[in-house]
Amino acid sequence: MTAVVSGLAPHARRRSGPRGNLVTGSLKQYRTDLLGFLERCAKDYGDFVPVRVAFRRGCLIGSSDLIGDVLVRQHRDFRKVFPLRMNRCFLGEGMLTSEGEQWRRDRRLAQPAFHAERIAGYGQVITDEAMRTAAEWRAAGPGAVRDVQQEMMHLALRAIVRCMFDTAAPLDSARISHSLDVVQRRMEDRYRALVPLPDSAWTPRNVPLRLALRELDQTVYGIIDERRDSGVDGPDLLSMLMQARYEDDTGLTDGQLRDQITTILFAGHETTALALAWSWHLLAQNPHVDSWLQSELDMALGGRTPTVADVPRLGAVTQIVKEAMRLYPPVYAFGRDAIRDTEIGGRAVNAGTSMIISPWVIHRDPRIFADPLAFQPARWTPQFERSLPKFGYVPFGGGARMCMGKGFAMIEAVLILATLRQTHRLEAIPGHAVELWPTFTLRSRNGLPMRLLRAD
Ligand code: HEM
Repeated sequence: MTAVVSGLAPHARRRSGPRGNLVTGSLKQYRTDLLGFLERCAKDYGDFVPVRVAFRRGCLIGSSDLIGDVLVRQHRDFRKVFPLRMNRCFLGEGMLTSEGEQWRRDRRLAQPAFHAERIAGYGQVITDEAMRTAAEWRAAGPGAVRDVQQEMMHLALRAIVRCMFDTAAPLDSARISHSLDVVQRRMEDRYRALVPLPDSAWTPRNVPLRLALRELDQTVYGIIDERRDSGVDGPDLLSMLMQARYEDDTGLTDGQLRDQITTILFAGHETTALALAWSWHLLAQNPHVDSWLQSELDMALGGRTPTVADVPRLGAVTQIVKEAMRLYPPVYAFGRDAIRDTEIGGRAVNAGTSMIISPWVIHRDPRIFADPLAFQPARWTPQFERSLPKFGYVPFGGGARMCMGKGFAMIEAVLILATLRQTHRLEAIPGHAVELWPTFTLRSRNGLPMRLLRAD
């Protein structure tokens, strides 16, 4: 008995989370090294770590079991996290930010666009766009240097626009990417502010944001107008949304359409682009994995363009994408706010507390992944996947609000990587040090410049 008490005592006396500054809490650590801060919290304090960032109270959840409590078993006690809700000026009431009945209704409405049969129909568009990038790279000549992060953003943007909105409206993907970039930077500022000002405030810092939002709105309303003018009624997401009728026989207003399209544009291109960009980065650093990939492509495709039917045979490509998302999860953290006082794993959670779920942290947990910092796509055997705890690998989130584009994103990433790797090999630029940039997604602040070489 004594032994048990003395065993518990030091633990009971230990702080449960970082102390931080009296006024600002852990704001400084959060601002300067967010990923390192999250990792240290998990390492030093365990699976349930209360943190305070300025006036916001949060709790980092580090075990797959507790993540399951928040996302599934007790999901009714939570709603989307405050920083995401702050982005309503941008994402409006789209599916990423909406709640309750409105979310349920809109998700049901959009779901058919993501069914397996529909996704099979997107394959050709995706590989067409990948071939377009391959042609641009070929024209640039062997040895040319390109920022692969940007290249993948442009490619994924073209793919999502054509698959989901089948538009003929001319789209300037560079300008759209730039506008989304401005929005991301502003989001980052606001996450890190001591007291975030509303977006509507005409402060000098908000001017670029408002201009970028105007630019995005013009693009989105352009897509809607073009579809209305054409009178065409395709099987794509845009048509589904435009024809949808609620119980009272009303349809989506232009504002509601705008919110859904902007959400899909944002959620559906940046994330997949980053999964691909980090895959290229890791392949360049791991030539043995790259050779494994190349042999698979030679055997499975022999130089021809892949189709959706080939995807099940592209095991190495799939495993590479999965492992890249483990090490560099495009959404490195997401969360839920408690809407009432509740308990998680027997510990009290006050209403208003933000539960932080970090794929970055959980994917590096040695209890789940042996040698967690090593890039080992070969670990993703079916047996290994079966042995994973349910919420031990969460690049797409989990529970009812799991990513709607998961199936689409995986097929898109595999087809793009398989198409481009057959024409090109990408080499790292010596001396270029990647600077991780966790905004809403996990980017490289200084891009990912790489040398384009012809595939052998
Ligand atoms: C590698 C690519 C992707 C990653 C890593 C990713 C990740 C995520 C994550 C983590 C969430 C959950 C956020 C939360 O629970 O708070 C989410 C939600 C969502 N994603 Fe993705 N996503 C990807 C691709 C896509 C694509 C291609 C689309 C659409 C075409 C998409 C549309 C959405 C939507 C609509 C939601 C909100 C779902 C809901 O709340 O019901 N995502 N995504």
